[in-house]
Amino acid sequence: MKALVLIGGFGTRLRPITYTVPKQLIPLAGRSMLYHVFDLIPKDVEEVVLATGYKAEVVDAFVRQHPTPWPVRTVPEAEPLGTGGGMKNASAGLSDPFYLLNSDVVTTVDLSAMLALHQHRGGIGTMALAEVEDTRPYGVAALGPDDRIDAFVEKPEPKDAPSHWINAGLAVWAGSVLDRIPSGRPVSFEREVVPGLLPERLYAFRLRKYWDDAGTPERLLRSQQLLFDDGRGGRGGVPAGAFGSGPVAVARGVRAEGASFGKYVTLGEDVTVEPGAHIENSILMAGTHVEKEAVVLGSLLGPKVLVRAGQRVVGQVFGEGAEVGGPTTPGR
Ligand code: GTP
Repeated sequence: MKALVLIGGFGTRLRPITYTVPKQLIPLAGRSMLYHVFDLIPKDVEEVVLATGYKAEVVDAFVRQHPTPWPVRTVPEAEPLGTGGGMKNASAGLSDPFYLLNSDVVTTVDLSAMLALHQHRGGIGTMALAEVEDTRPYGVAALGPDDRIDAFVEKPEPKDAPSHWINAGLAVWAGSVLDRIPSGRPVSFEREVVPGLLPERLYAFRLRKYWDDAGTPERLLRSQQLLFDDGRGGRGGVPAGAFGSGPVAVARGVRAEGASFGKYVTLGEDVTVEPGAHIENSILMAGTHVEKEAVVLGSLLGPKVLVRAGQRVVGQVFGEGAEVGGPTTPGR
């Protein structure tokens, strides 16, 4: 069994951070989004293939530096081919069946159990579905007896949505599905290919615990909460010499003596939070510096951001190297 992971998108909804950092390398609960997805892939798969595109070389270098339980091969696209085009471009040498994973979903799932169910039912594919209130950004399934998917509508208007069960971005597909994808041009797998596969029996695997897609700032922070609450954020607590509740995921080189922390915070490598500053429900990427008495709530701060003393940053996203606030106060 092999796994194909789609990781070629631009991550436009997380700009400006994604101008320099691919979405999947943003740390959530102390670990990159990509490695939270890797945690879902069974240890016994033979190989993981990454269909890369945007910032392919950055993803490649990151994966080389961070060990994985299986060999990882990256197959970059010269230009964005969409989900189906990316699958086709990386299809050489995949297994039959194979796992397909989006790289921006946060969930817990037993993929081996999904594979067993897929083999038992014998259809062309099995898609993990998550139940959500607002189906508008997703592909929505109509379910028949035995959880067979009778219809699949990509991003329908609410009145046209056949259910609240949406494509969770994790699936098992028969190898023959790859033959259905046209080559050499961008293809949306969900819009152009999946509806045509329904007559060959596509089944649902319903996710029952938690699921979110981490594609927008709000959902990224919600995903981080889910991971912490599931115990996937390390030991929790607060950095040495700091105060507050946490949990805070702390990377190497963090300095935060005298600062205070609320719930759900990730601090990347070499982050500094000065005394009297307060951070809550936020992600501060490597090298970011928050000066004294500043407050950061519900925000994403990319690498090497500087928040000046006394500033209040609420619900904001800053990209690499941004400076927030006026000139440094004396004594910094
Ligand atoms: P937005 O630009 O904010 O919509 O994010 P995105 O580019 O990641 O798009 P989306 O969230 O719809 O992508 C779903 C999954 O497919 C993610 O894992 C993406 O990395 C991946 N993906 C999207 N477009 C491409 C592509 O052109 N090629 C490849 N290989 N993967 C893609």
